[in-house]
Amino acid sequence: MPRPLRLGVLVSGSGSNLQAILDACAARRICAEVAVVICNVPDAHALQRARDARVPAVVIPHREHARREDYDARVVSELRGRNVELVCLAGFMRIVTPVLLSAFPQRVINIHPSLLPAFPGMHAVRQAFLVGVRISGCTVHFVDEGTDSGPIVIQAAVPVVDGDSEESLGARILEQEHRIYPRAIELIARQRVQLDGRRVRIAGAEQAPAATIASPPVEDP
Ligand code: GRF
Repeated sequence: MPRPLRLGVLVSGSGSNLQAILDACAARRICAEVAVVICNVPDAHALQRARDARVPAVVIPHREHARREDYDARVVSELRGRNVELVCLAGFMRIVTPVLLSAFPQRVINIHPSLLPAFPGMHAVRQAFLVGVRISGCTVHFVDEGTDSGPIVIQAAVPVVDGDSEESLGARILEQEHRIYPRAIELIARQRVQLDGRRVRIAGAEQAPAATIASPPVEDP
């Protein structure tokens, strides 16, 4: 196995995606390790998950920084100090600035609970539910300076069923997030991901099955 890719995971809340990443690393399902978890909310449950996994966790409260750029500079210094190679936003409720993006060019990814470019921004599950889409899902994408607008790495579709509520739909989407986020990290760790303008090319994923709800196909461990 090649050397594990060093991840910096940025969180603000429950950290269930962080947990999925930690579990995939621990089980060696992906060639990566969490080098540091950075959180802007001192009492976020994600911090407990990091501690339980014996992974360094750093709280950087945003209130201590007057400007977003100053906050990001502090985050960059922490990430660099831990030799982070890929930055994973996992429920990080902050807009990131060019300070972070230019320090890690094409090395910042995010998970979003909709099939982008539909429903970017806050409350994506609610937006999709209220509009009445038949299929929603989730997306891992590279982060650029827009809101949830960067090149798409992997998506999973989640059908909306009669009787769904925003909560039940959100829970099924979250299950898929936990599958595709580690999968996207693994693709990047194995150097299978190439950016071609806005398009992401995945080496070895040229043949799509006739019917699939995840593209590229998600291989279960
Ligand atoms: C997820 O729905 C993710 O898509 C969004 O924020 C939520 C984070 O959940 N960006 P968790 O903290 O990983 O449980």
